Amino acid sequence: MSSDQDLSVGQLAARSGMRVSALHFYERRGLITSRRTTGNQRRYDRSVLRRVAVIGAAQRAGIPLATVARAFAELPSDGVPDQADWQRLSAAWQQEIDKRIAQLEHLRDRLDGCIGCGCLSLAACGFVNPDDAAGSRGIRSTLLDPDPPI
Ligand code: FES
Repeated sequence: MSSDQDLSVGQLAARSGMRVSALHFYERRGLITSRRTTGNQRRYDRSVLRRVAVIGAAQRAGIPLATVARAFAELPSDGVPDQADWQRLSAAWQQEIDKRIAQLEHLRDRLDGCIGCGCLSLAACGFVNPDDAAGSRGIRSTLLDPDPPI
């Protein structure tokens, strides 16, 4: 049952600053939900604005959508993050951001040796193949991440 307070996808996009295509994507991923009118148009409860705000903040911080989905799954039954939820989520995500910063600083330090080199040596370049990690995965290993972040 829709109410007069519900938002169309265009209204949700205008209020949240998200593109309509992004909202549809988040809905396909189960991060937000809508109801359908008798004319089969989407209608969003106003509380979805808060979920979209959290998704936007997470995206700006580089938090994967899968992580956001797991966090939303742990919210109380109404699924609307309140102030305490946001404090808990942002604290957990700060740890993840700190970890990424440390990884990037490590990569930057390795890259220093590559500047002006260009050898891309699998044996010698600490940036292309750090610690010969590809070699340790066997003869058919690749340099592609087998478990990329979402
Ligand atoms: S490109 Fe030569 S050491 Fe990295």
